[in-house]
Amino acid sequence: MDAVDHWRSQLEAWALPQDLLDAVPWNPYEWPAELFSRRDTSVANQDLAERHTNAVIRRFEPVSLIDIGAGTGGSCLQYAEEGVAVTAVEPDGAMAAKLRSLIAERGVTVDVIEGSWPDAAGLVLPADVVTCSHVIHNVPNPGPFLWAMQSVARRAVVIQEFEVHPWAHLGPYYRQLHGLDRPVGPTVDDLVAVIEELLGLVPAVERWNGGRPMWFVDRDELLTFYGRRLLVPDDRRADLEAALGPHIVELGNGRVQLEDREKAMATIWWRV
Ligand SMILES: C[S@@+](CC[C@H](N)C(=O)[O-])C[C@H]1O[C@@H](n2cnc3c(N)ncnc32)[C@H](O)[C@@H]1O
Repeated sequence: MDAVDHWRSQLEAWALPQDLLDAVPWNPYEWPAELFSRRDTSVANQDLAERHTNAVIRRFEPVSLIDIGAGTGGSCLQYAEEGVAVTAVEPDGAMAAKLRSLIAERGVTVDVIEGSWPDAAGLVLPADVVTCSHVIHNVPNPGPFLWAMQSVARRAVVIQEFEVHPWAHLGPYYRQLHGLDRPVGPTVDDLVAVIEELLGLVPAVERWNGGRPMWFVDRDELLTFYGRRLLVPDDRRADLEAALGPHIVELGNGRVQLEDREKAMATIWWRV
């Protein structure tokens, strides 16, 4: 199997069983814009959490930057504040709306394009650095996505990703709550193999631990968030609490988190 097929088949293996999806009235894949934006309260926090990726981006001294799958701006608003001409591409309406309100709040300029990559590639002008952070695990067909990134980058493409699938840490809970085994990949090594196969180049890879963890104001909010991802119907709330309870950490600063650990991450980049 080639690298692209291996990538795709690993993502397909993440499909949730239809009977579990039918048992709840919500979409477990929804992006909760408020929770995402809450993680990124200050430029200093962002820089500290993702200093490796930022160090790589800054090496290219970008005057312009495209952030694909920008979400609520966790990776790109700091560059807009520094005067970089930022284009943010984001397909999710709620995420894009929250991003626009944060842009207004911070008084910065960002060109927000509400669209999916690579469909939106024709709407952007080339930029010095083209980046995406925690997006490629949503992309089963990475070829057009990566080619389009490469085609609008003047100096570098910089990708930040989790070492494994972002939901891999939920595997033990799926098993406990539903008797369901979950995969772990695709991994950063799988992504590197895809880049080598598709673009014929060997990217640099820097591995580190950190990131911006999702945090909650109390246990109830945390249980509601993970209950949706884990497809636990409301009448099984006690089971959910029993499974997650031992792993909930009160951080003591008004924040509650599932598992107090830094995640294994990677910055994957290449010059164009
Ligand atoms: C985990 S969030 C990451 C947000 C932000 N980059 C960050 O690091 O905080 C993933 C984002 O990618 C977006 N996304 C998913 N598939 C995409 C695609 N094909 N093109 C552009 N954005 C995409 C989602 O809508 C979501 O906002």
